[in-house]
Amino acid sequence: MDAIRTEALTKHYRVGFWRPRPYVALDALTLRVGRGDVFGFLGPNGAGKTTTLKLLLQLIYPTSGRADVLGRPVGDVDVRRRIGYLPENPCFYDYLTAEELLEYFASLFGYGPAERRRRVAALLDEVGIGAERRLQLRKFSKGMLQRVGIAQAVINDPEVVFFDEPMSGLDPLGRREIRELVLRMRDRGATVFFSSHVLSDAEALCSRVAILAHGRLVGSGALSDMAAFQVRGWELVVNNLTPAALEHARSLGRIARADALGGSRYALELPLSTPPERILADLAAHGAQPVSLNPLRETLEDFYLRHIAAAPTDRGLGAA
Ligand SMILES: Nc1ncnc2c1ncn2[C@@H]1O[C@H](COP(=O)(O)OP(=O)(O)O)[C@@H](O)[C@H]1O
Ligand SMILES: [Mg+2]
Repeated sequence: MDAIRTEALTKHYRVGFWRPRPYVALDALTLRVGRGDVFGFLGPNGAGKTTTLKLLLQLIYPTSGRADVLGRPVGDVDVRRRIGYLPENPCFYDYLTAEELLEYFASLFGYGPAERRRRVAALLDEVGIGAERRLQLRKFSKGMLQRVGIAQAVINDPEVVFFDEPMSGLDPLGRREIRELVLRMRDRGATVFFSSHVLSDAEALCSRVAILAHGRLVGSGALSDMAAFQVRGWELVVNNLTPAALEHARSLGRIARADALGGSRYALELPLSTPPERILADLAAHGAQPVSLNPLRETLEDFYLRHIAAAPTDRGLGAA
């Protein structure tokens, strides 16, 4: 059973006051997220990520299409107990302390007083705000509130957790702590579905991604496949490369590009046509010393930009 399935999930908003017309926020999204996946839902601002998450939480209703979470239609009461959600801009009653707020959420899930205290204390430490547990939320920074939001989302040990831009407002240390938390959740077997417009977060965390642009799915798959996708050459860094050796290799068509890094150090781009070890041996025979050799392959960023650039932009459906 998949953790999340959507079938042609579609949401139109009506925009404009005098002559409201439909606007396609999400266009026929069909997606499968396996159990135990850390799934990155990527796309630029306005792509439809938050709309999708709200549909999966049944905070809004689709215009057409359907969605299942843990094998049940969204909104199923039993499933709600087994999921967690961090909204995009969490907003809490801010005269409560972090501890009081989390105890309140824990009580909604029916935990008794001892279990509540245990969970809240452990989670506050895990998200890095243990020392501020007795501080009112109105004194919290954006990054600290984001941590409270994340703690709130996982207080019930959810099987599926939805994070809408979990890294927003966090500094590099905070981002790393949240990454570690996500990986711990994965190790416990949870499915994590998170939206982001920051690719490095996805690259560090995800097993699979989907890319949304202008309300449409434009690419999806396992990151390992995408990265393996296209090895388009090699990058070789060498020391002690003489101009004569460089010219010689160039004349044989073995160097697609050479960037001087200062002194006799160069970054060379080698084409795929000749095995890199042959080129290496040749250069070494001329006295060059290899420093590193790396495959050049498409990155998530290349993939993302290629797909975003190709997506159509018209989202109106004409006058209604
Ligand atoms: N309640 C709404 N009414 C009208 N348009 C909306 C509403 N909510 C979102 N939109 C529009 O739908 C598109 C997708 O929004 P959203 O899902 O928030 O994108 P993302 O989270 O990817 O940045 C945006 O163009 C946004 O302006
Ligand atoms: Mg959003």
